[in-house]
Amino acid sequence: MRIEYDTTGNGALDAVILFAFKDGELTGSAKAWADEHAPWISRLAGECPGDPGKACLLHAPEGAGIPRAVLAGLGKHDKFEIDNLREAAAAAAALCRERKLARVGLLHAALDGLGENQARVLEETAFAARVGLYSYETFKSEKSERSGFPETLAVLAGEEPKNEFFEALRVAEAGAAGVALARDLVNTPANVATPRYLAGKAVEVAALHGFKTDVLGSERIRELGMGALMAVARGSAEPPRLVIIDAKPGAKEKPLVLIGKGVTFDTGGISLKPSSGMEAMKGDMAGAAAVIGAIEAIGRLKLSRRVVALIPLVENMPGHGATRPGDVVRTMSGKTVEIVNTDAEGRLILCDALSYSARFSPAAVVDIATLTGACVVALGKKVAGYFTENEELAAIVERSSIARGERFWRMPLWDSYFEALKSEVADMKNVGERMGGAIHAALFLKQYAPGATPWVHLDIAGPGFSDSGSALVTKGGTGFGVRTLLELAGEFATG
Ligand code: BES
Ligand code: ZN
Ligand code: ZN
Repeated sequence: MRIEYDTTGNGALDAVILFAFKDGELTGSAKAWADEHAPWISRLAGECPGDPGKACLLHAPEGAGIPRAVLAGLGKHDKFEIDNLREAAAAAAALCRERKLARVGLLHAALDGLGENQARVLEETAFAARVGLYSYETFKSEKSERSGFPETLAVLAGEEPKNEFFEALRVAEAGAAGVALARDLVNTPANVATPRYLAGKAVEVAALHGFKTDVLGSERIRELGMGALMAVARGSAEPPRLVIIDAKPGAKEKPLVLIGKGVTFDTGGISLKPSSGMEAMKGDMAGAAAVIGAIEAIGRLKLSRRVVALIPLVENMPGHGATRPGDVVRTMSGKTVEIVNTDAEGRLILCDALSYSARFSPAAVVDIATLTGACVVALGKKVAGYFTENEELAAIVERSSIARGERFWRMPLWDSYFEALKSEVADMKNVGERMGGAIHAALFLKQYAPGATPWVHLDIAGPGFSDSGSALVTKGGTGFGVRTLLELAGEFATG
């Protein structure tokens, strides 16, 4: 779908998208516009319930200029928040696709008053409309004939829009492309999306934007002393990879380092998971996918900030070389770990990546991972946890995520939790106790985060993969985290 501005009002439309609160109350200046250009919309609007996240189609009487209106529901006026607008825009776009409408208009004036910053409101709407068209059909023999629809989304404005609105559309497109890429990667089955495959994809994306890449294989990973990463990889026939992307190599500037957990499939290893629902563990690389998606968006936006991505990729299998519970390995940091549970593998690959990040003298380090089921128990399927001791970084995560419709809730990182990670035979165990599992995992990572560098750990085990599904957040890979990472990188660019 192409998104463009239409200030002439000449282009024939198959439908116009408007937004309505409960019982058909049109938003912004849409009512005045409809009264002038399509009075039948005002007359019929009450037929649409305006339920949140539901889009409703109205047909024009014969001879009217615009043949249809899509009323995207926002729910009760006094309960409105920007999340409702995203869901509504996604539902409207999905309905246009369903009806195979080729050219649809989005009335700019309908967005008046829906937020403090008009450019941001447009950006969120355009982003959501684009993401509402997402589908994953790679392995379907029969492709949907609707996939090309709508061809064009024309933003209808009375006058030439200010630059900030064009910029808003550009940012929306970049974010949506990053999210779609991350979803594709997560949805790709694990027999295809192996560590080698994902490394190839990451390099392809980075190279397209002119970023420097390096891919380490087993040999170099071993030489670097990454015994924890290797301990996870050893149970699989698929060799591990560590992808390094530098968006501005050679720059003196200290980079923002993004690290994404890339477990292409998590069987649990010898500490085997129960089989029920295990298929969702193809999504255990959602952190890696979010980082690759963010790199795609950063590349499209030509962000000036130096960003480095580190993506450890392994498959956690109980093959003949697999790590046994009780094995002790030496990490790149020199610290030893007793692996009491091979299903706590994410922290093992991340700890070596965190140690490796030190060589970039980062300005800040962000890791993102589907790390613990305990985080899902604590916060549910739709909210991610974040852990940091740096107040500035915490404030940036709060701001970035709220602005972008991804919810993060802060969790503690108190050292007192380390007690449970003490080992009889090594410097630490990889698992503490069951209760407080997300915090123990974060505290494990903290032992490897580079010294005084601001560091935040994002646990997206809940929202990284969805089994419910709406127009905005489809079933399967969600692309959660891409927008927050992008926003974070943008904040660093300016501040
Ligand atoms: N990949 C899982 C975490 C996960 C669970 C992600 C549910 C998405 C949905 C992780 O590697 C894992 O297995 N963690 C264990 C840790 C435990 C053994 C301490 C868990 O959370 O049960
Ligand atoms: Zn696991
Ligand atoms: Zn895992």
